[in-house]
Formats: sequence, C-alpha cells, structure tokens
Amino acid sequence: MTKKSYYITTPIYYPSDALHIGHAYTTVAADCVARFKRMQGFDVFYLTGTDEHGQKIEKVALDKGMTPQNYVNGIVEGIKTLWETMLISNNDFIRTTDQRHEEVVKNLFKKVYEQGDIYISQYEGWYCTPCETFFTERQLDDGKCPDCGRNVEKLKEESYFFNMAKYADRLLEHIAAHPDFIQPESRRNEVINFVKNGLDDLCVSRTTFNWGVPVPFNDRHVVYVWFDALINYVSAIGYLDDKEKFDKYWPANVHLMAKDILRFHAIIWPIMLMAMDLPLPEKVFAHGWIMLEGGKMSKSKGNVIDPLQLVNKYGVDAVRYYLVKELNFGQDGMYSEEMLVNRINSDLANDLGNLISRTVAMISRYFDSKIPESTGGDALDQELIATAIRAYGEATEKLEKLDFATYVQAVLKLISRANKYIDESQPWLLAKDEEKRDRLGTVLYNLVETIRIAISLLAPAMPALPARANQQLNIFADPELIKWEDAGKWGITRAGTIVNKGPALFPRIDLKNLDEEETVDIQEPEKQKGEAEPNYVDIEDFAKIDLRVARVIACEKMKKADKLLILTLQVGEEERTVVSGIAKAYEPEQLIGKNVVLVANLKPVKLRGVLSQGMILAASDPLDNNIEVLTVETIEPGNRVK
Ligand code: ME8
Repeated sequence: MTKKSYYITTPIYYPSDALHIGHAYTTVAADCVARFKRMQGFDVFYLTGTDEHGQKIEKVALDKGMTPQNYVNGIVEGIKTLWETMLISNNDFIRTTDQRHEEVVKNLFKKVYEQGDIYISQYEGWYCTPCETFFTERQLDDGKCPDCGRNVEKLKEESYFFNMAKYADRLLEHIAAHPDFIQPESRRNEVINFVKNGLDDLCVSRTTFNWGVPVPFNDRHVVYVWFDALINYVSAIGYLDDKEKFDKYWPANVHLMAKDILRFHAIIWPIMLMAMDLPLPEKVFAHGWIMLEGGKMSKSKGNVIDPLQLVNKYGVDAVRYYLVKELNFGQDGMYSEEMLVNRINSDLANDLGNLISRTVAMISRYFDSKIPESTGGDALDQELIATAIRAYGEATEKLEKLDFATYVQAVLKLISRANKYIDESQPWLLAKDEEKRDRLGTVLYNLVETIRIAISLLAPAMPALPARANQQLNIFADPELIKWEDAGKWGITRAGTIVNKGPALFPRIDLKNLDEEETVDIQEPEKQKGEAEPNYVDIEDFAKIDLRVARVIACEKMKKADKLLILTLQVGEEERTVVSGIAKAYEPEQLIGKNVVLVANLKPVKLRGVLSQGMILAASDPLDNNIEVLTVETIEPGNRVK
C-alpha cells in the first residue's frame, strides 16, 4: 500500500539579511507538524526556501557593492546552516533563483497571459518596497504603507495586470464550501470581508529594475516578486518536470505563515491557482507574531533575536520547545530571554528532567539498574495510565489542528501527574518493606512507561530528546523511528532493560548569571553622619546557605522531649532526618506531606542521640508561643530556595 502523502510549507523568506527568531517560529512549527505526520506514517514533503528576487534585495545588495546573486548566496548558506542546527527536517529547499523555479514561473505567466487573464496597461499608484506590495491611493494610511507604516514610492510604468476580480466570486464560494480552508476562524472573516470589498487587478510586472524572472514574451519586464514567489509551492514539487511527484503532493495540505502575509496566500495565490487550472491547497494557516516586550521584532528597530545564539546557549530542544509552547492558536506570542529561561527551568528541568532522573535513580538503587516488571495495578495506576492515554488523544487532536500550545500543555499535564504519582506512591517507603517489592516494581515500571509516552509525544517539538533520554533509559529501539501510535499504547517497554544514571537532561539555568557582562551599577546610599554601618552580608555569603524544598514524608515525636519532632524529609532523591523544636506547635500528622524549607548544608549534629541532618525554617514570635513552619506550595522537593 502506498503511504498517504502530506505536503506542508513555510513562507520562503527574504534573504535580505540573516533570519531572526520570528522566522524560526514558523519553521519550527511546520517542522513539528512534519515530524508528527512522519511519525504517523505519512509520506511527508516539508518545503521551505528563500524568496530572492525583487527591488528590496537588489537595493540591499547594491548598497553593499555586491551583485544580488552573490549577496543572496552568502545569506542563503547561513539560513541553511540555521535550519540544520535547529534540526529542521525539510525535504527540499527552494530558491526562487533556481532554474527549476524560474522555468515554472515563465511557463505559468505565459499560460495565464495566453488565456487572457493577464493584460498590459499603465500602472499608476504606490509601492512599498520592504513589503514588495502595490497600493492604491485610497489604501494608504496617512500616505504611508498600511501594512508596515513605512514610506511608499509613486510608480508610473507600463505593467502587466492580472485580472483578479474575475475569480472573486469563485474564491468566496470556495471559502464558504471549505470552512477549514483559512484558519484560524477570525482570519477567515477578515479575508472574506476583504474580497467582498472588491478586488483590484494586480500589477504583476515591473520595468524599473532587473532583479527578477523576465516576462517570457517581453524581457523589458520582470515578474512581480509575489507572483514569482508564490509559485515556489508548485515549482518545488516538479510542476513541469516530475508529474508523478507533483500529483503525489499537490494540493498542499497546509501553507503555514504569520498573519502579515495571509492575504497573499488566501486571496492572490488561490486566484492564481484557479487561473492556472490547479486545485487549491487544503488549508492556509496564519499564526500570530512573536513579539518582544517593546513590540514587534524588526530589522529597522534593531531588536531582532538571533536563534542561533539562543540554540548555542540553551540547546536546540529547549529553544524549539519554547517556540512551540508560545504558539497560541493564532494569537501573538511573547519572547524574552527571561521567559525562555523560566520555561526551561519549570517545565524541562523541574518537571520533565526531575521525573526522568528520579525514575532512573530509583531503578538503579532499588533494582540494580534493571527496569522492573509490572505485576498488577491499583486505582492509582489506572488513573496514571488513563491520563497517559488521554494525553495521547489530546496531543494528536491538537497537533492536527495546529494548536501547538495546547498540544504541549497536554503532555505537560501527564508529566506533572507522573511526578505526583511518585509522591503518592512513595517508592522510598515501599523500598523499606521487602513485602512491597512487587508494588515498588510496578510503580517504577509505570513511571518508565509514562516517560516513554511523554517523550514520544514531545518528539515532534523536541527531536533530539528521544536519543538523549535513551542514553539513560534505553526505551526506544530506534529513537529516530518512534511511531506515533505507540505513544497511545501502554506496556511496550520491556522489563529487564538496563538504565544508566547520567547527567541532568535539562540543567537548571541561573537567571542571575544570564547577563554577567552587564553589571548593574547600584549607587551606594549616602551614609548619614553618626549612622552605624548596617550589618550587610554579601549575596555570595547568602548563597553559601543551601536552602532546599523538602517534603515531610514521616514525622514522630521524640521520646521524652516535649519540644522535639523527628522529621523524615525527602530532598530530591535523598532522604534526611531532621530534629526540630516545633512539637508544641504541630502534631506530627499535620506536617506529613508538606513541603518545607531545609537548610541542607548545616553541619549535622546529634540531638538526644538522633543525628539531625539540617534544619527546617520556621517563623515565630519572640517567646516562641506561636511557631509557623515555612512551606512551599508548588515547587517539588529538591529544588533550591533563594
Ligand atoms: O514575507 N513572528 O518573507 P519574510 C512570527 N518572502 N513570524 C514571523 C515574524 C514574527 N515576529 N517575523 C517573521 C516574506 N515571521 C515573503 C514570503 S512566501 C511565498 C513569500 C515569519 O522574510 C512569518 O512566517 O518577510 C512571516 O509570515 C514570514 O516570516 C515573513 O518572512
């Protein structure tokens, strides 16, 4: 049986300069879908590339004293390296300067001209070079480009025009008959209104510069850069020279882009396709912009973020994860380095990383590094399994809809459920009782299965994760060939597989070390005469105290000592005993399950014959009549308090 095909595209980007994190956003999102579909068994064709013609590129190149071709060649090399580094799995990279593309542009331009949908006339109007877009007088916004707000140039030249109005009704009918054609819904309505307001004929050639595909029957003209660029989606899959490939992949399943260029894809491109007598793509999806705190990223504002630098600093999976999670269905997302680091620390280091390291550590300690067997199951296990299967269903459904943030959320829910499962099933207590060894084995097996499922589900977003996790867990026969459907099945991991303890997959990043080079200059307050020197400690002194979140897993009264409680604390993988003078304020049961704050590097002392390995923090009034132990709500045991 031949595999079902799936064709997904990103916009082809302008190589006027190096790309930024906004371009990475679309490309990672499309890659996530491409990988998901491949895992489902589809024959995927994922296309990206570069849009190299036009006045803007010509200007940039000439300003640098280079030919446009030499200039773009250099930039394109950088773009290809960027995508390789970001583990983008595109099947082809189309350049509009490729001969295979130019031939198709000429062919289609001629075809549409010969059937009478392109005609020659005089253009008089306005042009925005950065957007490579024509505007009529009434479309301008206070004399400026209505899309980017920049200056426009008056153009008066002989041009070819494409009769778009002729197809407007057919386009509206198509949109009405295919509710999923333009997504998300709100964007669809914008497009409908735009078309209903009337479509002007589109100017599709230029005579005032040369950097473009020549009009085949009139070489004083070059083809308008958008008419040229949109054709990449068919030229790359062999429209002229590989019928079999073309028939396999066309029409595309999804054209993905940001909202800035939706109109080109949802109006001009479908009308071009109608004129070319080709079927329309199944879906055109416009996601929001990734914004910086100061507004949209743009080269002219000089606030662009280089994705390569981020990947070098934080790793490819972490950066990809952040981008995918920020892609709220059709809405704008935010980027700041602080948000990126917080996400890595909370979702990846704390939740996923801890789950993996705790599980591997317990299998190493309690089962000599062999994944134990599951021998039955109780209601708690059933709930975990049901959560895993639900996560699979939800992740699948959300990815199908390109609802990236919710897809990731579904997997995160499973990971937190598994961390909670550890706390509830208390393997460290099971390990103390030989009779509960089977139960301990079942709990650990269930954790491994949950991790396998979570990692499989995250693999489209984080393609390096399965292989990295496999170094410790050995759960994937081939981490490159995980089947999506296996993430929906429970019980695939084989007992007896050997695990290896290894370094944390996602080490915590200290926000305070982020901008080491940027030392903040705090003015010393002026000292008043006669004022005593306050007893300051340096931050380095404070940092010497290792404060940790610790969970009280057992607690009892110290015999013959009415003020003392003996607490058993779980701090990450470790257990500690601490003697604390809080018995007047708390019954032992009140403390069990609470997360307290432990001074973890306090010198151990023996108190009434019990070795106390640290101290827990509490607030009290001066006479210790009222004592309140400091607790933490949501941060897992083992994490630092600072
Ligand atoms: O428009 N947030 O190329 P382009 C999210 N060559 N996505 C962003 C973004 C941001 N801040 N900035 C850029 C062109 N993008 C044409 C396309 S297609 C036939 C021709 C992404 O280099 C997003 O996908 O200006 C947006 O649509 C695209 O880059 C614009 O890239």
